[in-house]
Amino acid sequence: MREINVGLLGCGTVGTGVARLLLNNRDLIAARLGAALNLKRVADIDITRDRGVRFPEGVLVRDARRLVAEPDIDIVVEMIGGEGIAKELILSAIAGGRHVVTANKALLAAHGNELFRAAASKGVDLYFEASVGGCMPIIKTLRESLVGNRISAMTGILNGTCNYILSKITDEGSTFEDALANAQQEGYAEADPTLDVEGHDTAHKIAILSALAFGMEINLKDIYIEGISRITPLDIEFAGQFGYRIKLLAISKAHAAAVETRVHPTMIPFDNILSNVNGTLNAVTVTGDAAGDILLYGRGAGMMPTASAVVSDLVDLARNLIAGGGPGRLPGLAYQMQNIRRIPVLSIDEISTHYYFRFLALDRPGVLSTVSGILGRHGISIRSVQQKGRKTNGAVPVVMLSHRAREADVRQALAEIGALDVVAARPALIRIEDDKLVD
Ligand code: HSE
Repeated sequence: MREINVGLLGCGTVGTGVARLLLNNRDLIAARLGAALNLKRVADIDITRDRGVRFPEGVLVRDARRLVAEPDIDIVVEMIGGEGIAKELILSAIAGGRHVVTANKALLAAHGNELFRAAASKGVDLYFEASVGGCMPIIKTLRESLVGNRISAMTGILNGTCNYILSKITDEGSTFEDALANAQQEGYAEADPTLDVEGHDTAHKIAILSALAFGMEINLKDIYIEGISRITPLDIEFAGQFGYRIKLLAISKAHAAAVETRVHPTMIPFDNILSNVNGTLNAVTVTGDAAGDILLYGRGAGMMPTASAVVSDLVDLARNLIAGGGPGRLPGLAYQMQNIRRIPVLSIDEISTHYYFRFLALDRPGVLSTVSGILGRHGISIRSVQQKGRKTNGAVPVVMLSHRAREADVRQALAEIGALDVVAARPALIRIEDDKLVD
């Protein structure tokens, strides 16, 4: 039986999962592939730690650069992470004519355009199913299953850590800090958890998905990013009273000559399917003109779910090699390189949606009319108002829901309201996505 040789760079959590899957399910994979995926070499700085995997003699080595240069490695799997040595090794694997698999969403979001160009000009493939949504086949879905569709929108819960934190606060009354510590113990959080909680990890992922869906260059820098660190239990409680749950959403929509791509905490109705995606789970909905709505739901991180996606890429690449499809059978970013355009991402000021505002206002006659007067002057119409309690520390939370409004107007109005003497703290704003609201 033909053997396809795999070289693995980095044997941390996910790397170990990949090794385990390739070794434990070797016969199963061979029965499906018609060739053996042979874990030829694994490079890691630590080759003595017990990973619970029995590597054949000589497989574990320290020198990653040497692995990349080995002539009989067919596919290099980069599981190191980060943007430094990982990028260097991927570029040198490509230059050496190796196909590459990576789960490195931060690297692809920042340098993907350069890496895909390098792979295309060398005639090798760079696959990355595990970079978004762990085991969920979202890359395959966009690149293959929906290839005949014009995609109009994607909405995703793409960070397990944030979803876990919000679920714990909402359902169990946990504190933010306790919930984050638990997520770190579960091994979901990034090495630097601010990447999770401030929304950057989610932005990396939606930048990649937007490129695949809309035929655009990967554009991370123009995406509006807001994390969950300013969400309070009070906002979560108010959301519940209005029939909403707060989720960190990645939203990407096609406009005529631009895309609207944003990451922020969002109120969604209880009957929105994403409302029921809780704990560390991820989900993404995609809307195509032929398919309608599709939902993928599953484990977005973790050793074996992520390894599952990596092995799927390995088998696809091996099929290109043995079944005659050849490299380039699937364009890396779903569109032929010459058809990938630089499509502008709308500034957050240009979007229009529905809003939740929370003001800490002095409980005095006339305050509400001053606040609503400012909103009215900026063309923001109020749909609902609620005041909670009376004179806690001299001020009370006043919550308003708006009809559809323009973000630029909302920002100006909130700046004016925040500057009022009768408003005690910076106003809070959470965007709402609710299909049932028509205006
Ligand atoms: N830190 C990420 C998460 C891991 O919490 O979902 C997967 O990319």
